[in-house]
Parts: sequence; structure tokens; C-alpha cells
Amino acid sequence: MSNVKSMDAIMALCKRRGFVFQASDIYGGINGFWDYGPLGAQLKKNLRDAWWQDMIMNPCWGRRGPDGEKVRCVPVETCIIQHPKVWQASGHVGGFNDPMVDCKETKQRYRADHLLLAFADELGLEKSMMGAFFHGDDETLKKHLKRLAKMCKSVNADEPSGYSTAEFTQAFKNMGASMLERIVGPHASKPGTLTEPRQFNLMFSTFVGALATEDDKAYLRPETAQGVFLQFKNVVDSTRVKVPFGIGNTGRSFRNEVTPRNFTFRSREFEQAELEFFCHPSESFEWYKFWRDFRMEWWKQIGLAGENLILREHEKDELSFYSQGTSDVEYRFPFTAPGFGELEGIAHRGDYDLTQHAKHSGAKLDYFDQDRGELLPNGSKRGERYVPHCIEPAAGLDRGALALICEAYTKDESRPSPEFMKFHPRVAPIKAAIFPLVNKEGMPEVADRIFDQVFAKFGRTGIIETDAKQSIGKRYARMDEAGCPFCFTVDGETMTNQTVTVRDRDTGAQSRIAADKVCEFLGEKLGG
Ligand code: GAP
Repeated sequence: MSNVKSMDAIMALCKRRGFVFQASDIYGGINGFWDYGPLGAQLKKNLRDAWWQDMIMNPCWGRRGPDGEKVRCVPVETCIIQHPKVWQASGHVGGFNDPMVDCKETKQRYRADHLLLAFADELGLEKSMMGAFFHGDDETLKKHLKRLAKMCKSVNADEPSGYSTAEFTQAFKNMGASMLERIVGPHASKPGTLTEPRQFNLMFSTFVGALATEDDKAYLRPETAQGVFLQFKNVVDSTRVKVPFGIGNTGRSFRNEVTPRNFTFRSREFEQAELEFFCHPSESFEWYKFWRDFRMEWWKQIGLAGENLILREHEKDELSFYSQGTSDVEYRFPFTAPGFGELEGIAHRGDYDLTQHAKHSGAKLDYFDQDRGELLPNGSKRGERYVPHCIEPAAGLDRGALALICEAYTKDESRPSPEFMKFHPRVAPIKAAIFPLVNKEGMPEVADRIFDQVFAKFGRTGIIETDAKQSIGKRYARMDEAGCPFCFTVDGETMTNQTVTVRDRDTGAQSRIAADKVCEFLGEKLGG
């Protein structure tokens, strides 16, 4: 069996079997947008449902948190378009920009900081310092720009005022008189084809209302997280939640990515599943470690176990200025191998977001905790007022679905169906298939009866298939490509001894079980 997974083969299977299609395909597609076909839509729903079940309904599989209590979380569903001031408070307006460089020869576009990283050697700069550009926040960037500007003898070396195109361009230009003319772009044949960096805003804008003046400008949210901070007070006031607790939000986010690429990995429209977990500042680091470890376990539990999954703790100089810790759950995608790509970030955000929104909106977003403070003579506590700290596990459902697809894709030339999808039964879009061996001799009727029983029990967890056409080998091959874990076949023997064959997708092995035990068998395998 080959371990090498080709992205082209995976994408071809995705299209052929209806997992993922290019959006607006019949018009030639639109870059950075993807649709899901019947199998992909069900796969993503199963992933979203698993997240919802394990993060909101029964958080952390009923485990207790560092405070010894069961973890408590509630959901919200917030709007894609919010008040424009939200994005000023969150730092997305002004900060959510990537300076980009175009190559005039190849028409490729690169993030300027990636190019700087690539040319660090040539420029005689320290790689560790340049690395800060890649992951750094505005503050880190400012610091390093200042150093870079000094090194490059900038006229404004002592007064860089922020993360602006002008400064970045200046720093880039100052790297030696005609550095741009000497640099060969990564895919160019000759030097001097790169443009100066230009700023791009990653937020999609639109207008609210009929007049569409500048005053009506609004943005499509670039993350679901902010909706939670905006409703923090309403949730506390309208429910019985007490800190520590989490608020989950799932839905579409939009980023006008300058270089969408790697299939659905970097899209312009994508879906996030984010939890904002609020806790007392003194307990925040314990909660951070708790969520970081649980989220890693969770991805393993739904089928990404193995050496393709890692938890990467950010270095100190990668952290946002407000963050005390961030870790990424990363997966080794075929296009990142031997490296890894981010699936989910778990960030300790401190009190940054609530404080920012309190400042910009004027609302009081602190929390009165009745169970803290000194003990009073009457036996109750004095209480304590504070701004909760927030731990944020932020997952991407499209990247999650893509990782599940890449992990499941298996090639084995020795099988009649050389390509098959080894999905974990919990996320598999088709849970079971019930086939009559031939479309006669009473077999379809028995298969229909079993189908009805299985559908009644497992139909809400995924698709249950039945199909009487084509040879049984071809039907098994179709189910293998769809990643259906179990096929049950009604054959001649069924009619005499009431048993059916059950075929295991991964081994191709067949055994017989009683026809009336199919639901029991599936219950054990699918868990329910
Ligand atoms: N609230 C924090 C936040 O949004 P992020 O790391 O920017 O953090 C969280 O995004 C997750 O959303 C990422 O780990 C990734 O899975 C997904 N994501 C971000 N940008 C994406 C894109 N352009 N295409 C697909 N998924 C994306």
C-alpha cells in the first residue's frame, strides 16, 4: 500500500464522488470559493455536529475542568454583518492587512513578509528576526520594522509610527539601494520583476441600506469570535451561566485572502467553530492548558490520530501582545508535507476583547462574581468584580473536513477498488449500505425491510444507502470511495437462514450475521 498521497488524486476523487466542487463551476469557477456536494456537505455536517455535541451539549465528554466542576458551555448564533465599529475595536480595521508583492513576470503574488523571510540570507539578516514577520502581531512587527529600518539606514529609523504600507515599503526599499532590482522572485527567470509591497485589506466590505454612501459601509465578519464578545453581557443577563463558562459560535467567515490556495485550505469564504471560554484571571492559564490538550484529543478522536497531527506551542515572540499563550493543532496535509498546516488555534486572549469592546461601545462588560471575595459574617462572600479572561479554541470546519478527507484517502492497488476513504465512522457521510445481491428472488424486499430498520435508528447520523443496480463489486467500490464503513448484503443464503453478509470497508473481509442483528451490530460500531 502506498503512503504517498497526491493532492491531485484527492481533488479528482472529491469532484468525481461529490465531496467538493469549485464554486460557480459552470462559469469557470471563482478563485477562493468552494461548494460541497452531497457527500461533502454531509461530512461537514457530521464534523460540525461532533463539535457542537462535544463542545456545547456535553462539553469535553462530560469531563471536569481544572476547577473540579463539569465544563459548562452555551451556544449563540450571531450575524455576519455587525456594527462597523466592532471591527475597529477588534483591531481588524487598520490591522487586518497583508502587504503583498506581485511578480510582473509570472503574475504570482506573495506576502511581502514571506519574501523577506525567503531573502533573509541574501540580505544578511538573521532568520530568527525575520521569522517574527511571519507570525508577529502589529507590536512585534513595529519592533522589528524599527530594527530593520535601522539596519537599512532608514531616514525615519527612529520614528516608525505603525504597521503601514508606507513604512513597510520604505523598509523594503531601504534594504540596499536597488535590492528589488537584484532580487529574483521565487518563480521568475530574471531579477527585478517584483513590485514594491502594496497593502490589502482582508475584510470584504458592503453597504447597508439603499443609499450605499461611505457612511453605510459595513463588513462581512472575518471571524465568528467577535459576535460572542458582543453578546457576552446579554448571555450573562439572560441565562444562569456563571464564570467559568464558554460561549460557542459557528458559521461563515469571510477573508479576501490575497492568495487563496491549496484547495479549500485557504478560502475566501469558510466556516469556523469557535468557543470563547471566560474564566477568572487567576485560573486562566490552567484553563488554557485544559482546552489546548482537550482540543488535540478531540481531533484525534474523530480520526486524525497518528503522526500527521501535532500540537505546536507558539514561541514567545510569535504571541500577540495580549496573549499569554497560543497553541496550534496542526495537520500534515499533502501540500504542507513534510511540514504542517493549522487546523485550529487555541489562544489565551486575556481580557483584551471585552476590554476593547467596553472601551469602544461604552458598555460595562465586567462581571460580578458572587462566589469570590472575603467571607462575610453571614456566611456569604463579598463578591468580586473583574473582566474575565478568555481562552479561545478556534477551529476551521473546512480545514477540518479537508484534513479528514486527506487522512481518509487511501490507495491500495491490490484491491478491486484501489482508492478508498477510511473515514472514522463518526464522521463518515454514509454510515451503512444495504444491498440485495440481485434485484429479484425476494432479495430487494428483505433489503428494504432492513434499510427501514437501520434508517429509523441511524438515519439522523448520516446517509443510509440502498442500491440494487450494477454488480455487487461495483457497488462495494462506490461505497469504498464514499468511505461507507459497512455494507450489508442480502443474498441467497439470507432467504434460507436469515443471515446477511457484512463487509468491512478497510479490510474488504466479509462475515455473516443474523439479519435481525444488523442494527445491534451498527450500534456497537457507530456508538449509539
Ligand atoms: N478568532 C480567532 C481566529 O479567527 P484564525 O487562526 O484566524 O483565528 C481560526 O482562524 C481557524 O479558522 C484557523 O485555524 C483555520 O482553521 C480557519 N481559517 C482561517 N482562515 C481561513 C481561510 N482563509 N480558509 C479556511 N479556513 C480558515
